[in-house]
Amino acid sequence: MKRGKYYITTPIYYPSGKLHIGHSYTTVAADTMARYKRLQGYDVMFLTGTDEHGQKIQRVAEQEGVSPQEYVDRIVAGIKDLWSLMKITNDKFIRTTDQSHVETVQKIFRKLYDQGDIYKSEYEGWYCTPCESFWTETQLVDGKCPDCGREVELTKEESYFFRLSKYQDRLIRHLEENPDFIQPVSRKNEMINNFIKPGLEDLCVSRTSFKWGIPVTFDEKHVVYVWIDALSNYITALGYLSEDDSDFKRYWPADVHLVGKEIVRFHTIIWPAMLMALDLPLPKQVYGHGWLVLEGGKMSKSKGNVIDPVILIEKYGLDAIRYFLLREVPFGSDGVFSNEALIQRINSDLANDLGNLVSRTVAMIQKYFNGTLPEEKLAGDPDDDLISVVTGTPSKVEELLDQLQFSTALSEIWKAISRTNKYIDETMPWILARDEDKKPRLAQVLYNLAESIRIVSILIQPFMPETPLKIWELMGVCENCRSWESAFKWGKYSGTNPVRPGNPIFPRIDVEKELAELEKINAPANAAQNIPGILPQVGIDDFAKLDLRVARVIECEKVEKSEKLLKLKLDIGIETRQVVSGIAKFYKPEELVGKNVIMIANLKPAKLMGIESQGMILAAVYGKDEKLVLATVDADIPLGSRIS
Ligand code: ME8
Ligand code: MG
Repeated sequence: MKRGKYYITTPIYYPSGKLHIGHSYTTVAADTMARYKRLQGYDVMFLTGTDEHGQKIQRVAEQEGVSPQEYVDRIVAGIKDLWSLMKITNDKFIRTTDQSHVETVQKIFRKLYDQGDIYKSEYEGWYCTPCESFWTETQLVDGKCPDCGREVELTKEESYFFRLSKYQDRLIRHLEENPDFIQPVSRKNEMINNFIKPGLEDLCVSRTSFKWGIPVTFDEKHVVYVWIDALSNYITALGYLSEDDSDFKRYWPADVHLVGKEIVRFHTIIWPAMLMALDLPLPKQVYGHGWLVLEGGKMSKSKGNVIDPVILIEKYGLDAIRYFLLREVPFGSDGVFSNEALIQRINSDLANDLGNLVSRTVAMIQKYFNGTLPEEKLAGDPDDDLISVVTGTPSKVEELLDQLQFSTALSEIWKAISRTNKYIDETMPWILARDEDKKPRLAQVLYNLAESIRIVSILIQPFMPETPLKIWELMGVCENCRSWESAFKWGKYSGTNPVRPGNPIFPRIDVEKELAELEKINAPANAAQNIPGILPQVGIDDFAKLDLRVARVIECEKVEKSEKLLKLKLDIGIETRQVVSGIAKFYKPEELVGKNVIMIANLKPAKLMGIESQGMILAAVYGKDEKLVLATVDADIPLGSRIS
């Protein structure tokens, strides 16, 4: 009998590069909820995916010299591999490039247009021509393009707009009448006071300045811009407006959209307004969790710490990483990630508290009862306290997980583990074992330990996909006493399966040695930065900003009143350029005409002695007196060929 349905989503990730440990935070949290609800008997739909359109993706693909589709296919394959490595149990994976998503977004756009919720107007913004990007006033850095630092122009672009303003009052009412809609609560007031009450402006939902997006069917020069494409994934994945909408009927509305705090605004303002316009029910909850940052700042700027989830999992195992992510920081707050904190947690909570408890119990059952415990369930003191702490844990864990309080749910489980460890100290089984008369009591004590471990191992299942099975095998926990419900009942452990002593489930890590090892993983990049006499490293993306072309000198003359400068006219295939270059001491004008050279074709124009120079030609400089020769290519190839 199913207890009902449960639909949970993560945001769809931008496939603009490799994912770091911070990205896996949302997904691990959502996976934990999905596993928990399935264990409880819910019919779960767990959705994740990728957000693949937009100018940024188009540009990264261009820089790598592949089509956007090829680019996203490659990155998305890597993301899927990561999720399977992390044992993420998503039921569906949506890509916004899926044909079915594209078609449904087009239908949604059309429907909103037909009913007057989308209209055509003009978008005004600051445009950076080389970057082909619009920026708002506030995005500019010192009045210049935040990406490349060049001049921007105030420009108008024809755009479609969504009538967000129309939904302002209904939105406020919804947020006020549904106090659980935005969690944690603190984010709700921020949304109402900072964003909705000052007045909602209509939202620009199409662009003509780039191509990598979903075309607007009735106006093909427009592509759908960001939110109508991205947010719709939560319903297109279920077949909304498609031939088979059975999943949509079954699972919508979502029970929880899990999102990082920076996108709460889009999920609690734009998304509900879109759903209102589509006359659909709103999700029950949007949960905005905090960020995992590094001591020095953002995750993406990592220096000292290893943040590659693949390396971390290889070194410490999946369960240790998942445990750390969910235990270290209260969900909702920001938290600091460091390799040291990770290793400390593994040692204290996993190797020490849980791992030792299991190893010691298994070893004692093996030693004193040859692996099989007789049935002995009588309880006296201090058994009562142990039993009450352990049997009180499952309902607390459920209550906390229902509020997505992963960290406190784990700390409740660890309270039960600590209580059990304390029980060993209190009962001192090794002393009981000295006296044959105390054998029944010894059996009782070990039974209580085994039973506590059984309950704990069931409760950690949503968080840790690998450890419970390891514990069950070591402890001989029979298959029909592993269910979620059985954690609520004391006395299910039966000694019919013998224990099987094995390796510790979480080996202890030597902190100092390990941190030194991790240092080495980061070292290659750092070492290369420090080669004496070489400029600091740049990323491939920095290099890719330079547009280097093969050009031919078609005219050349001396610049009047200058000993150094020559004025050259260059043919770069597509057009001609005038360049002023300080090479008059090394070349005569007539030597240069007809020569092929290399030029930077996207250098910001500059004036030298009043003459405009539209680029720069490259030369090798040598000797104490800085002689130079021009760089050239060693074959006669088409002018304008790109050097990369
Ligand atoms: O925002 N700590 O995608 P995204 C915690 N495509 N969470 C982090 C994090 C960190 N250091 N870094 C990233 C997008 N995240 C849009 C979403 S939804 C319709 C469209 C989280 O790849 C971040 O908060 O930039 C977000 O929830 C998720 O990773 C995806 O981020
Ligand atoms: Mg983001």
